Amino acid sequence: MTPYSCMTRQQLEAEHAKVLAQYQHVKDQKLNLNMARGKPAKAQLDLVSDILTVLQTPEDCFDGDIDSRNYGELAGLPCARAYWADVLECKPENIFVGGAASLNMMCDIVSRAFTHGLLGSPQPWCKEEKVKFLCPAPGYDRHFQIGEFYGAELIYIPMTPTGPDMDMVEEYVKDPQVKMIWVVPKYSNPDGIIFSDETIQRFANLKPAAPDFAIIWDNAYCIHEFEGDYVPFPDIISMCEEAGRPNMVFEFASTSKITFAGGGTSCMAASVANIQYFTGVFGVQMISYDKVNQLRHVKYMKNKAYTLEIMKRHASVMAPKFHCVSRWLNQEIKPLGFARWVDPKGGYFISLYTMPGTAKRTWSLCREAGVVLTTAGAAYPYSHNPNDDHLRIAPSLPPVEDLEKAMEVLTISLKLAALEKLLEK
Ligand SMILES: Cc1ncc(COP(=O)(O)O)c(C=O)c1O
Repeated sequence: MTPYSCMTRQQLEAEHAKVLAQYQHVKDQKLNLNMARGKPAKAQLDLVSDILTVLQTPEDCFDGDIDSRNYGELAGLPCARAYWADVLECKPENIFVGGAASLNMMCDIVSRAFTHGLLGSPQPWCKEEKVKFLCPAPGYDRHFQIGEFYGAELIYIPMTPTGPDMDMVEEYVKDPQVKMIWVVPKYSNPDGIIFSDETIQRFANLKPAAPDFAIIWDNAYCIHEFEGDYVPFPDIISMCEEAGRPNMVFEFASTSKITFAGGGTSCMAASVANIQYFTGVFGVQMISYDKVNQLRHVKYMKNKAYTLEIMKRHASVMAPKFHCVSRWLNQEIKPLGFARWVDPKGGYFISLYTMPGTAKRTWSLCREAGVVLTTAGAAYPYSHNPNDDHLRIAPSLPPVEDLEKAMEVLTISLKLAALEKLLEK
């Protein structure tokens, strides 16, 4: 295959005619496939459904003397706090165990920051003239939605292969209006990269002008390898403490991609002072979270070592799907030289960088041929990707047979959009 950049106009026109015919062919199949959101597949949910029978009798419902069926222990059952401390390698007193969604707690933190302030806030953020959030992108669209919902100005920080552009981050935090940054440090959504040690050190050592600047360290994919062994990851809570700003970081994780998505438990890890502050704040809206579910989860997942075994079961379903995406891209697109992507070893997503100016067109072509991808640009603040060159692939939900068809459509659409762009000139 000749790279598109080396083709003459005549060759490009011939290639366009060929690819257009292929596109018409796949369109005629009237497919209806979805690779839009990072949902676990039914096969994965089935693999962990033993959890449904973990609690059988009233006697099963106790954590020591504590009856999980009753009010109390707002910060979480002791066994659940110990479990998450094991997973995130921090201390149980740094853990607050929440409800079924970590995103809910992230949103609550922002909400309380605006209405009441965080520890160290001179005043609630709603009284500030302006509040700015740093948004490394491509990133998780729902993070950006929270910022937008509360009226923060979202500032785009480019991602690099080692994490966000830290020179930019360090520069921006000199502005006291910059109050927050949102990151997914391990198997980032959607690039699938792991932040380098240097990036993590630079995060812990940030010296922001705002006394209440907060890092949302969304460790949603902390143990979510689908290839190779578990990759150890530093404890940001103790790192920020050692660097002298213990209250600057809020870490999050959940079982949404371990047991049931939206039906599991979540946790926040933070300084002891922050845990105490937010136990008070959340106590206004909640007498206690669902401790029966917390207990069910701890009995099922046991500890980090055993949970990593559960993650291997997930990996057996996930890996063939990521390999399928990678195979199609390597065979069909790589030799043509106009797009790039990252092959992650964990997480739920693949970032696909198209020829600049063609991501939206590729997305539309896929949609017209019955394949739904995450909306082009959604991984950027305000859904605005300045280069129109990014698509997020979420291969977890469809079975491999469907993925094969979806990838055929995607690779044809990528080529067609690129050829249209080249022939425009
Ligand atoms: C980075 C990231 N954070 C949070 C979530 C949602 O987690 P939860 O179900 O715990 O709210 C997701 C889901 O895709 C995610 O990708």
